[in-house]
Amino acid sequence: MTRRIAIDGPSGAGKSTVGYALAQRIDATFVDTGLMYRALTLAAIERGIDVNDGAALGRSVGQCRIEVERALPEHVDRLETVLLDGRDVTIDVRQPRVDQQVSAVSRHAAVRDAMLPVQREAAERGDSVMVGRDIGTVILPDATLKVYLTAGAEVRAARRAAEMGALERYESYLAEILERDAADSGRSIAPLRIPDGALVLDTGVLDVEACVEAIVARLEVGD
Ligand code: DC
Repeated sequence: MTRRIAIDGPSGAGKSTVGYALAQRIDATFVDTGLMYRALTLAAIERGIDVNDGAALGRSVGQCRIEVERALPEHVDRLETVLLDGRDVTIDVRQPRVDQQVSAVSRHAAVRDAMLPVQREAAERGDSVMVGRDIGTVILPDATLKVYLTAGAEVRAARRAAEMGALERYESYLAEILERDAADSGRSIAPLRIPDGALVLDTGVLDVEACVEAIVARLEVGD
């Protein structure tokens, strides 16, 4: 039976790190849907599409080719490579201008409707670990296992500051995280919430390995 694991949670909870480690452990494909919204946001910025124009953004999902693939071994700076119309935009999708606009782009119904088949298709190719905000609730409601990863905003901000080597920016990371949480949870379409029956893990308490163990243990009980 094909196994599909949905991992949702707020920004900076460690979804990619845990999801990637889990995918390695169970030999599944890792798909970070946040990268897809980021690539679309970059396309909108480059093409001058207004981030408030949901219809135009929705159309642009069909007009640009967004591909998320496994990183080549020499790309030690990333877990996956994102291509926009064949161009490697993995670094560009992490630019502050994308960070600042991606919540606005991803809140539109037309955008989410257009992304849904692209994301479902990515989970059709075999065992997969898919991370995002609405994977367990909307994209894969029949997932083998739903996981919700969380951590306090302060923990996530401190982690971000350490990752970026910019401890002095802690306060601004905290403000950004709180703003993004409010936008992702407060939007009317596909808001971030804990899916029914999800395994909830706090990454402020559990390290990556402990999260992977807890998920694998739950998968084995379900087998
Ligand atoms: O996980 P991330 O920070 O790369 O996600 C970027 C943005 O995309 C985030 O603000 C929420 C949005 N997003 C979403 O709405 N639905 C998803 N499945 C994944 C991300």
